[in-house]
Amino acid sequence: MADYEDNKQNTSFTLFNNETGKSYELPVIKGKDGPNVLDIRKLYQETGMFTYDPGFTSTASCDSSITFIDGNKGILRHRGYDIHELASHSEFLEVCYLLLHGDLPSPEDKQKFKDVIRNHTMLHEQLVHLYRGFRRDAHPMAIMVGVVGALSAFYHDSTDFSDINQRMIACHRLIAKIPTIGAMAYKYSIGQPFVYPRNDLSYAENFLYMTFSVPTEEFKISKKIVQAMDRFFVLHADHEQNASTSTVRLAGSSGANPFACIAAGIASLWGPAHGGANEAVIKMLEEIGDVKNIPEFINKAKDKNDPFRLMGFGHRVYKNYDPRASVMKESAHEVLEELNKLDDPLLKIAIELEKIALKDEYFIEKKLFPNVDFYSGIILKALGFPTSMFTVLFAIGRTVGWISQWKEMIEDPINKIGRPRQLYLGKTSREFQKESTREKKSIFKWLWK
Ligand code: CMC
Repeated sequence: MADYEDNKQNTSFTLFNNETGKSYELPVIKGKDGPNVLDIRKLYQETGMFTYDPGFTSTASCDSSITFIDGNKGILRHRGYDIHELASHSEFLEVCYLLLHGDLPSPEDKQKFKDVIRNHTMLHEQLVHLYRGFRRDAHPMAIMVGVVGALSAFYHDSTDFSDINQRMIACHRLIAKIPTIGAMAYKYSIGQPFVYPRNDLSYAENFLYMTFSVPTEEFKISKKIVQAMDRFFVLHADHEQNASTSTVRLAGSSGANPFACIAAGIASLWGPAHGGANEAVIKMLEEIGDVKNIPEFINKAKDKNDPFRLMGFGHRVYKNYDPRASVMKESAHEVLEELNKLDDPLLKIAIELEKIALKDEYFIEKKLFPNVDFYSGIILKALGFPTSMFTVLFAIGRTVGWISQWKEMIEDPINKIGRPRQLYLGKTSREFQKESTREKKSIFKWLWK
């Protein structure tokens, strides 16, 4: 736990129990940036009570030095660098190095890092056969969960993460192989031959090559499109303790191997409230269909009795414009301009929807702004990706964040297994009921038809 004692504050927080008249002092730990935290680790021992915080809305589950977010100001920094600066000046592999190692690389280190990553881009050939076990219509995220999990069955020489060398090889393998795995999931779904990686291409260009090239034709792609893909990966590289990253950390806290942990992260990312939102945004824009239908959908989103939500809007942490969304919006314009698709009807609906929502009292009051997913789907669709691939692209960008957070946790000397407590609201102790006296349950009605 980095600098914990240095950051301990002289101040404390007093808890008073009205029932017993006892008070308890809780130490306060100062963050380098952002809010201080109450150290409640001894709370149960001293008071016999747990805290209750479903969804971790007020709970710091770990300390970390990788990513900082100020949701009210709309700030996102990796290792101290603003996301706008990284998105404007850094290529993705440089950001990978930064997240993994803490600083931007020197030119020599950058070259070395690129060489190391290139060295691992291929998949074990037997692993390639694994794809054929999936149905053709399998969702590519299902394939991702399966194939990434299966890496642990193939790379035994990098699963002992107590060894720093094996740990680093696992990190490099995951960053290097994830585009290959994602591109192959796509190729399999459309029945085209797998395209093996080309190490003379950049990370983003190689991914586009493996995804869109065919053996019969020369592969050509514009620099601007490669840049947009690279920037997409930069914008998704890490986002502190979100659901999938917390899943990776929780899985890793038990000592599970890194490949299994990242597979768990991919599963968590798949949900529509998290990484699946970019796919949901396009479905929603298509469903809206025309600018004139926007008010109807805005009303649906505001209706408490309607489960519909504006996809790509709102965020647990950002109560301001998601800084990634502004870069993504800019990038969407650049890509559509490059592809001569500026009159894209979905872009028009998205821009108008954003305009209307940002002026609407409901969205203003609840501080609901566009998030990273709002414009990313438009870019990906324009590039030719089917919607089912959108979350795969998120996963490719996020793998470095997951593995950096996992590495940070493993290297923390006081790493403990993650084991949340609960507020139990079920039955208290009761006598065992004989089978003959048990009632038929209405929830099983469908069984008795
Ligand atoms: N449309 C309409 N109302 C919304 C929306 C939305 N997109 N998001 C939140 N609200 C309302 C919600 O109904 C609730 O109202 P009330 O207080 O009256 O019950 C209030 O705003 C707070 O919402 P919440 O669900 O308690 O907030 P949360 O922090 O638990 O959820 C969220 C955050 C991202 C899951 C949610 O905003 C959402 O479902 N957004 C749409 C899905 C989406 O775009 N997800 C991508 C997130 S960014 C990518 C990533 O990091 O994975």
